[in-house]
Amino acid sequence: MSETILIVGSGAREHAIAMALARSPQHPTLLCFSGARNPGIAILCSDCGVGSITNPADVAAFALLHHATIAILGPEAPLAAGVADALWTAGVPVVGPTQSLARIESSKGFARELLAKYKIPGNPFFQRFESLDGLEEVLGQFANQHVIKDDGLAGGKGVKVCGDHLHSLEDSLAFCRELVNHGHPFVVEEKIEGEEFSLMSFCDGRTLRHMPAVQDHKRAYEGDKGPNTGGMGTYTDADHKLPFLADADIAAAQAINQQVATALAEECGAPYQGILYGGFMATKDGVKLIEYNARFGDPESLNLLTLLETDFVEICRAIVDQKLAELTVTFSAKASVCKYIVPDGYPDNPRKGDVVVLPRTLPDGVTMFLSAVDLKDDVLIATGSRTVAFVGTAATISEAEVLCERAVQQIPGPFFHRKDIGTEQLIMRRVEHMKAVRSV
Ligand code: AMP
Ligand code: GLY
Repeated sequence: MSETILIVGSGAREHAIAMALARSPQHPTLLCFSGARNPGIAILCSDCGVGSITNPADVAAFALLHHATIAILGPEAPLAAGVADALWTAGVPVVGPTQSLARIESSKGFARELLAKYKIPGNPFFQRFESLDGLEEVLGQFANQHVIKDDGLAGGKGVKVCGDHLHSLEDSLAFCRELVNHGHPFVVEEKIEGEEFSLMSFCDGRTLRHMPAVQDHKRAYEGDKGPNTGGMGTYTDADHKLPFLADADIAAAQAINQQVATALAEECGAPYQGILYGGFMATKDGVKLIEYNARFGDPESLNLLTLLETDFVEICRAIVDQKLAELTVTFSAKASVCKYIVPDGYPDNPRKGDVVVLPRTLPDGVTMFLSAVDLKDDVLIATGSRTVAFVGTAATISEAEVLCERAVQQIPGPFFHRKDIGTEQLIMRRVEHMKAVRSV
């Protein structure tokens, strides 16, 4: 039976999902339901619905109308809203956890408490608060050395770090007061130091198949300056490790993902079926957990789905049927570099409505993904967020960077990107930073 696969979401991540599915020798029928129409995705789909992706009944109705045999949920919001629950109830199997299991992302306190309860390594000191009671004592204990996080999803705006956003006890208290005033619980954590990396695993509730490690770049400007973004670019290495990590770091992150999947099944009484994305930091005391996400990373998935060799349709089927143990998952032994172009002013005050002129041809080894764009009278318009991403793949990170940069440079107009991502100079800085961290 040929699969009919519904993709929920309309960013570059979902474009990468659609492209990976479209490569399948099974030639699945593809559908998309999303808040906006992404022309890159639309061209690969037989039907596209536009609506609210956080309305479980609407998504399920679209899936039933078009006889979807599997649904893949791209972003976190529909997962947290219980869209997977509604789809399963309607008889449509889902790659993406149900609402209860998605708490691993939608509640920072839940994730930390799960690790603590099941004695899984990786937690720094943390404490969850619903009021200001006892707060000053904890802030005093970790003076200038803490991070404050809105417990719930906050679109990347819910985390403040001492030294970056918080410069005094009063700054910290003010942020906590604001959260409490809005009725938001929050978590105070010890600030840890090291190099961040993402380790994602396909998960069917029991078996995990790990993907290569990736490093994202959250800051908007070169040299890791400027405001935090959804992620400006990413790279992976040909050996599927990262130049600043020891083998033991990758093994530790994989083991944490495995233990978390097992703990989630026990805690929620149901299997976690989807992508489990651990955001880790390699520190002087080993690998620590920064956060969990219940979905593919964006841009991480652009690198990984480009490198994926195994039939992605087969992987999705194995996830929903809990048969990952029978499947070998492989990725091409190449390095990759991904860079986003974003409108000037992004992320705080982005320009909107500028025309996006795409390159007529791409160098060999480069793939393009469309994100926050819209078609108006056959003209591609930037809608004010991460706009277009390019992934270069080659034997080395440096070669992949050159390819990627060659493509990015072809986009004219009031856009910018980070030239430094994937360059030898930046990679060496990561390696030196990690050496310094480990030698303390
Ligand atoms: P999150 O939204 O949890 O990924 O946090 C955003 C960013 O805050 C992360 O990418 C880290 O750079 C930083 N961060 C979060 N938690 C910690 C922590 N405990 N120590 C140091 N930095 C952190
Ligand atoms: N690249 C970070 C994220 O997907 O959350």
